Amino acid sequence: MPNILVTGGAGYIGSHTVAALSAAGYSPVIVDNFSNSQESVITRLEKITGAQIPFYNADVRDGAALDAVFSQYSFAAAIHFAGLKAVGESVAEPLRYYEHNLAATMSLLAAMQKHGVKSLIFSSSATVYREDDPVPYVESGELGCSNPYGWTKLFSEQIIRDVAAATPGFSAVLLRYFNPIGAHSSGLIGEEPQGVPNNLLPYVTQVAAGIRPQLSVFGNDYPTPDGTCIRDYIHVSDLARAHALALGFAEKNTGATAINIGTGRGYSVLEVVAAFERATGVSLPYRVTARRPGDIPEYFANPELAREKLGFAAELGIEEMCRDAWRFEQGRKD
Ligand code: NAD
Ligand code: UD1
Repeated sequence: MPNILVTGGAGYIGSHTVAALSAAGYSPVIVDNFSNSQESVITRLEKITGAQIPFYNADVRDGAALDAVFSQYSFAAAIHFAGLKAVGESVAEPLRYYEHNLAATMSLLAAMQKHGVKSLIFSSSATVYREDDPVPYVESGELGCSNPYGWTKLFSEQIIRDVAAATPGFSAVLLRYFNPIGAHSSGLIGEEPQGVPNNLLPYVTQVAAGIRPQLSVFGNDYPTPDGTCIRDYIHVSDLARAHALALGFAEKNTGATAINIGTGRGYSVLEVVAAFERATGVSLPYRVTARRPGDIPEYFANPELAREKLGFAAELGIEEMCRDAWRFEQGRKD
């Protein structure tokens, strides 16, 4: 079974990807410094996969630590999730974000170069598209970001493209995620934000669980049918599956390819609230508050390139996303 290095493999998307890789016949090896995750995720992954998952508690920016891991395994590819991801924090502490995320990408690329590993899947984001790009966003759209976090993704994409161009046989897939939500069907792994959640679904599940009194819907005067913002939510297990497919694509193609991973269908905040109530039978108190600075009214993916290049299409719908997020939240209380 081919060994795959997964940086940040204990995190939200990384852990679901480790489960998907294992199901697809790969042997994932995790490097994570557990700065935004817990070691107990590894045990839960072993329960889900029925396999032993090797993991190393190390910082990806630590070249010597990474070198030691690369020396132990022959990796067919690396999947790079490790990094900082809070948009607001990146605006307040831009240098920390640039230093962390760019150093992590470069450190991984250097280790890959040293050890002759030529296949990389990178976690990029829909945030690399310019806000005024027409929807649905296509990969050939105009790029540009409104916050340092986004720029670390776009700069990382560029660094990876340059390395791919300079390295014969190198293959990179830059996956631009839309809004991942939901949790593994086992209820064992899911999103575990620290403190007050910034993102919609973790906030919704905490309101449903009675941890927070009500949801604030940030603005209902946007130019959308019900006035609330529209996003392309994708089940994290679908997103995880796209990584296994991207490995197959990288095996057969060289160069760097950016690919959207979304469903192609947008839902408004109020539609998500309604879907959550339908899927769980729990009613969700909310009130409309002011717009959140920086939010844009609507975006969703054109998912055609993922279908064409990876044979990927999302399978799970909004109610399944809500149901699985709720199952995970309830498990956390037990
Ligand atoms: P996460 O924080 O849950 O996972 C990241 C993991 O990386 C954590 O386990 C953390 O401990 C680890 N980590 C961070 N810095 C590290 C370092 N220097 N060395 C080793 N480990 C390190 O985040 P996530 O939601 O799973 O996101 C994974 C990736 O996908 C990130 O790069 C993120 O920017 C990107 N992304 C996420 C979303 C989203 O909505 N969650 C959307 C688009 C892109
Ligand atoms: C945010 C990030 C983006 C990241 C994405 C997925 C910003 C500006 N962008 O996008 O980079 O890729 O998360 O993790 O932070 N909402 C409420 N009430 C809440 C929370 C959210 O009404 O309590 C609304 C927001 O206004 C938005 C929608 O729900 O319209 C989704 O919000 P969120 O989950 O934070 O995702 P994004 O803002 O799309």
